[in-house]
Amino acid sequence: MTHVPSPNFADLDWWRRSVVYQVYPRSFHDGNGDGTGDLLGMSHALGYLASLGVDAVWVSPWYPSPMADGGYDVSDYCDIDPRYGTLDDAALFVNEAHGLGLRVFIDLVPNHASSAHPLFQAALAAAPGSPEREMFIFRDGKGDDGDVPPTNWGALFGGSAWERVVEADGTPGQWYCHMFAPEQPDWNWENPAVVELFDGIVRFWLDRGIDGIRIDVADSMAKNQNFPDTPTDPKTGYGTTAKFQGHPYWDQPGVEQIHRRWRAIADSYAGSRLGSRIFVSEAHMSPAERLVRYVAPGRLHTTFNFDHLWCEWSGPSQRAMIDTILRVHADVDAPATWVIGNHDTTRVVTRYGKPETGWRFVADGVHPDDALKFAEYFAPLPTDVALGRRRARAAALLEFALPGVAYIYQGEELGLPEVEDLPVESLQDPTWERSGHTIRGRDGCRVPLPWSGERPPYGFGPGNEQPWLPQPADWADLTIAAQTGVPGSHLELYRAALAERHRNPALGDGTLTWDDSAPEVLSFTREPGFRCIVNYGDEVVPIPGNNRLILASSDVSAGIPRDTAVWLSV
Ligand code: GLC
Repeated sequence: MTHVPSPNFADLDWWRRSVVYQVYPRSFHDGNGDGTGDLLGMSHALGYLASLGVDAVWVSPWYPSPMADGGYDVSDYCDIDPRYGTLDDAALFVNEAHGLGLRVFIDLVPNHASSAHPLFQAALAAAPGSPEREMFIFRDGKGDDGDVPPTNWGALFGGSAWERVVEADGTPGQWYCHMFAPEQPDWNWENPAVVELFDGIVRFWLDRGIDGIRIDVADSMAKNQNFPDTPTDPKTGYGTTAKFQGHPYWDQPGVEQIHRRWRAIADSYAGSRLGSRIFVSEAHMSPAERLVRYVAPGRLHTTFNFDHLWCEWSGPSQRAMIDTILRVHADVDAPATWVIGNHDTTRVVTRYGKPETGWRFVADGVHPDDALKFAEYFAPLPTDVALGRRRARAAALLEFALPGVAYIYQGEELGLPEVEDLPVESLQDPTWERSGHTIRGRDGCRVPLPWSGERPPYGFGPGNEQPWLPQPADWADLTIAAQTGVPGSHLELYRAALAERHRNPALGDGTLTWDDSAPEVLSFTREPGFRCIVNYGDEVVPIPGNNRLILASSDVSAGIPRDTAVWLSV
């Protein structure tokens, strides 16, 4: 593969201020017209991403997968799912992205494989205690017949974290551990062969010019080898998945060694033409002091700051959250990573249009234990989409003004709402089945993007094939084509903000200084000469004299009204 790095690829610190766009490949753009997104569609869309003004594209898993969990069940880590294309298509995509000055991130899923992975199939066929079984976490059951799971651990998608297998002679046998769906058996990271396998996978992709790697559930690989029970979750009857300190499968000391090992591998590529290769860790963890251990020197580069995503839409909560995040990241000299949406969470437009917009964790210490509970909590609340969209616009200006790295989940730039009324027969998230049809799960934020046209499939693919998840009938005004060049559209606000972020030396990595303001107003400056004001309260805030307006998220002709952000030149 030949790379055509554009000149900014010489900048070793690029990752400290990037804007990264998340592509969920199944739902982004369909090049061959079969109703599923693919690499051809992604390549066609690179011009769109470059014109949006992002610096990098993170592609959610693109590997061969039975799709029990939308690709987070990987059956071959060094290939591309045939529905998406081939390794050559991926090489072309990376090359074309680099040619446009865009970095490419992939998603590494190290906690678990797919049960269709050949090594898991070999483990099933082999005997208890064999080297094949040692690649995964097999244990004998408890009780006289071994029919009680080895621990009471709960799986995140519901039910027990253990599944019993049938041995070669047809008798009920050992149990294997799966923190997510039964189709996602956990690797045994105590086994050096697993460690080496993943060293090779990381190198495989870095050799192919990948610039960044998002680590899926980066806090989960190591398990407490005493396999203790956890306190029982009163709701499920299984062991709780809540991440208390010392939980047997979250944030165990062993994960640090794994991170440091990968960091050393990535660092060994720093001298290559593409410069620094980086990691972003996905770990839902609180408090923030605990989270930033993951980006201490020599460990990973960045870690999603989900406190941002979970923070309610109010001046005091947002300010406290921003303050904490900036302080703890400064302590370890890592840039903060801001995120208001992803493929696991109720879309921001819908979330901010609810009577409850987040978790009051800052105020009262309450914290959700995982994203699924988040969706479950928000789904029944009514939504004011117009209000949510207004706030989401303000939230975007705030996010892009903050020091550090910003993520955009595909469709966020279009102001897409969560699709909360998908027909149940279309639901694919494993949670739907595993919860006995009580939790719909995350499909509502994964509906394929509307590109153009008046009705589904809205130009998602070249023909009229309907996409794998149905799109709403009222998205004609939200398509990329409908919003392009329309002053004031959600998309053009994003474009203008990202263009300014590139132009303005005050934005990106660095620090901020708070101005004096009422609790319901956030006002800060960044040097040289930049100010951002967000008004969460009822009182209109005047634009300070001698400040020049750069951008506003709503009409500010009579001052800054409620749920509005402005960028000013001081
Ligand atoms: C991460 C992914 C999520 C997936 C889970 C298991 O949280 O973001 O989509 O279901 O890990 O891999």
